[in-house]
Amino acid sequence: MEIITAVRGFKDILPPETDKWRYIEGMAHQVFRAFGFKEIRIPLLEKTALFRRGIGETTDIVEKEMYTFVDRGDESLTLRPEATASVIRAYLEHALHKEEPVTKLYTLGPMFRRERPQKGRYRQFHQIDTEILGPDDPHTDAELILMLMHFLEKLGLPKLNLEINSLGCDQCRPPFREAIHSFLHGREEVLCGDCRRRLVSNPLRVFDCKVESCASVLSEAPLLRDFLCTACREHFAKVQTALGHFALPFRLNPKMVRGLDYYTRTTFEVTREFLGSQNAIVGGGRYDHLVRDLGGPDISGIGFAIGYERLAAMILEQGTEADSTPVLFIAAMGEAATEEAFQLCNRLRMKGIRVEMDYQGRSLKSQMKRADKLRSRYVLILGEREIAENKALLRNMHASSQEEICLDQLEDIIIQPVR
Ligand code: HAM
Repeated sequence: MEIITAVRGFKDILPPETDKWRYIEGMAHQVFRAFGFKEIRIPLLEKTALFRRGIGETTDIVEKEMYTFVDRGDESLTLRPEATASVIRAYLEHALHKEEPVTKLYTLGPMFRRERPQKGRYRQFHQIDTEILGPDDPHTDAELILMLMHFLEKLGLPKLNLEINSLGCDQCRPPFREAIHSFLHGREEVLCGDCRRRLVSNPLRVFDCKVESCASVLSEAPLLRDFLCTACREHFAKVQTALGHFALPFRLNPKMVRGLDYYTRTTFEVTREFLGSQNAIVGGGRYDHLVRDLGGPDISGIGFAIGYERLAAMILEQGTEADSTPVLFIAAMGEAATEEAFQLCNRLRMKGIRVEMDYQGRSLKSQMKRADKLRSRYVLILGEREIAENKALLRNMHASSQEEICLDQLEDIIIQPVR
C-alpha cells in the first residue's frame, strides 16, 4: 500500500532541525522577557471576518491565500494567515487593555497561506510574532526594532539588512493616493490585471506587486515619503534618531508598503540577500487604527513577525536560557531625563539585564507604583540634576533602603545578588 504523504506546502520539521528551533525559541523567550514581553497562545482557527477586517479585503492574503471553509455549523472559518489580528482579538476579548497602559505580547506558531510553494515559502509556515499595544511614542518603535536586531545578533547571524519606511497616516495618505492615481492614469496598459484593479481599490498595493513591468513603471512614481504630514515626519525622524543612539545601520526604503493594509507610520523589514526572492526574514510596523477597526478603543500598536523557517535556515549552532521580573526600573523625571533613561534602559537590556521604564512622563509617585507592581528589584530615580552630576538615587525595593550612587557604578551594583 502507498503511504499517505503530507499536504503540498506543509512541511515536517525533523530532528536535528528541531534543536535549532528550540535554540531560537529559548533565545526569543530570553531576549523578549528582558524587554518586558509576555507570551500569549492563540487558536489557529478564527472567524473569517477577523482577517477580512483586520488585514484588508484587497490584500493578496485575503483575496487569494486564505484557507477558508464553512464548518458543519455553517460558519465561515479561516486558518490564521498571520498572528496580529488574532492577538488583538484576544487582547480585546479579555479586556487586557484595561489591566496595563502597555501590553507587550509575543507568540510562536504556525500560520497558513495558500501561496505557490518554493524554497523558503510554504503553505504552513511558522512565525515568532511580537506586538506592543498602548503607546504611540516613537521610542516604542525604536525599542521594538532594537530588540529585534539584538535578538538576531544574539543568534549569531551574519549581517542582515534592516529597511525602514513610514506609511504615514489618514492625513497624508489621501493626497498621496491621488498623486499615484494620476501618475498611473494613462500607464494602465503596462500594469498587470491585478494592479489595474488595485488602482481603483487600493493604489498603495501597486507598490507590492512582484510583476516586472509594474515595478518598472513605479520606478518614477511619486513616493509617500514626500507627502508625510508634519506629525508623521517628526515621528519618523525621532525613530531614526533613537536608532542612531545604538549605531544601528538601516536603509530607508520609501517603496516598502508591506503586504497587509493595517500599517500606519513606521514599517520595517529585515532581509538577507542570498535567500533570493524569498528574502524577507522579518516584517513589521505600526498600526494605529487596527485595534479600533477590530471594535476596540483608540489604542495604537506596533509589532513584527519573524519567519521561523527562513531564520532557522541561517542558524548553525545550538543553546538556551530564561529569566523573570525586572532587576531595575528607571523613573525618569522630565524630557531630557527620559531621553537619557531610554538609552540607559535599552543598553542594559542588551546586556541581558531586565530593565523597565515608562515613556509617558508620569509623576514620580505613579512611576514608583508601577515599579512596585512590576516587582522591580531596584528603582533608579533620574532627573536633570542627576544627569548633570552623574549621580542618582538608587532604591533597593527589597531592602526598602536607598543610596546615592555614581551612574558609572550602576551596572555593577544591580547585577550583584540582592542585599
Ligand atoms: P508578513 O510580512 O506577512 O507580516 O510576514 C512576516 C514574515 O513571515 C515574513 O518576513 C517571512 O519571513 C514569513 N513568511 C510570510 N509568508 C511566508 C511563507 N509563505 N512561507 C514562509 N515564511 C513566510 C506579518 O505576518 C505581520 N503580521 C507582521 C506584524 C506583526 N506586523 C505587525 N505585527
